Amino acid sequence: ASSGMHAYRGRVLHFLGDPQFDPQAHACWDDGLLIVADGKVVNAGDATQLLRTLPPGTTVTDYRGKWIVPGFIDTHVHYPQTDIIASPSPGLLHWLDTYTFPEEQRFADGNHATGVASFFLDTLLRHGTTTAMVWSTVHKVSAEALFTEAARRDMRLITGKVLMDRNCPDALRDTAESGARDSADLIATWHGTQRLAYALTLRFAPTSSDAQLVACGELAQQHPDVFIQTHVAENHDEVRWVAELFPDARSYLDVYDRAGLLRKRAVYGHAIHLDDGDRQRLAESGAAVAHCPTSNLFLGSGLYDFHASDAHRIALTLATDVGGGNSFSMLGVMNEAHKVARLGGYHLSALRMFYLATRGAAEALGWADRIGSFAPGCEADFIVLDPHCTPLLVRRSAHCQTLEEHLFALALLGDERAVHATYLQGMRVHQA
Ligand code: GUN
Ligand code: ZN
Repeated sequence: ASSGMHAYRGRVLHFLGDPQFDPQAHACWDDGLLIVADGKVVNAGDATQLLRTLPPGTTVTDYRGKWIVPGFIDTHVHYPQTDIIASPSPGLLHWLDTYTFPEEQRFADGNHATGVASFFLDTLLRHGTTTAMVWSTVHKVSAEALFTEAARRDMRLITGKVLMDRNCPDALRDTAESGARDSADLIATWHGTQRLAYALTLRFAPTSSDAQLVACGELAQQHPDVFIQTHVAENHDEVRWVAELFPDARSYLDVYDRAGLLRKRAVYGHAIHLDDGDRQRLAESGAAVAHCPTSNLFLGSGLYDFHASDAHRIALTLATDVGGGNSFSMLGVMNEAHKVARLGGYHLSALRMFYLATRGAAEALGWADRIGSFAPGCEADFIVLDPHCTPLLVRRSAHCQTLEEHLFALALLGDERAVHATYLQGMRVHQA
């Protein structure tokens, strides 16, 4: 973290709550100032007022005309799929067999894993993503490689080794015992080291035996503060397969529920083909959903039901799901999320999408006291967005009047070109 005080002047925006349920949940200063010291937020507010309070000699970086917002949080992304992004396929199960499982076998090699992990993290930062909940592969060394690279950058990051002991290539198979042992070892070494955290990472119900589901549930109980991630109800063929494999389960989600995997700090990818019983369980357990619209559209998986999600007040987050998703950009995710919602007759505002990608994800992860907003004491992970980064955005932005119009144009027209700079704990780690 950088030492000493530094201030950043621009249009400062952050959230205090969910704008869907509280119209006063955001704070925005057109001429704003973000004050940072020792890697932490000191204050955010009106520039003309705050400038007077700065100690003499404090440097002020001038980002006027640009937006200063908390860094994006991507709650579901597969780093080992970086090199197979945008592989054409008729759907999830074919895509897994044809591209994903062969590619993931390369991560048995720590050198390969390190090279991809390094590129992956730099790519996140280029896209304005400062925290991610990331999938490694079944190989312990793949998680070690990503943790090591994230530690070098001092990023706040969650990952875990994948658990999968059946219905996959032999080279990607662990056992209930080895998977649990490797997970426990990784938790002991990495969980709580610097800004890193561990996620028990069960690929999905079809690739885990009952014994592995039970072992994962036991680990979850022994380590109540670790995260959990998996996939649920993404695709119709997958849902049918799970019903065949687990005939006694009430639903796909129920397979995880019976294993004790529904709780706070658990993030369920996709969650498209659910019933209201499932939604009730998600909501009351405190588990979160990672909505991955680029992936859901690319793989033809289905449309997330925003009305039903909100009716149950499910903790919702947004995610790229690279390489099922075809972009690392959380602005790109917003673009597609808006259209998925639109097809369901739901208006997903830009204000809410920026909340979901920042403070909302931090709340879902239990980290709202650390990241996702400019509340004093939060880690100074923030980005600078340039609404004039392309000729089209220059023209469109000139016509924007309301905050919603400005953010909507950035979300629907922006990509990594809009990310002018990325800061981790007050240190600039990317500049356009
Ligand atoms: N279901 C099981 N594994 C995967 C994966 O790697 N990507 C996606 N999108 N869905 C999955
Ligand atoms: Zn995924």
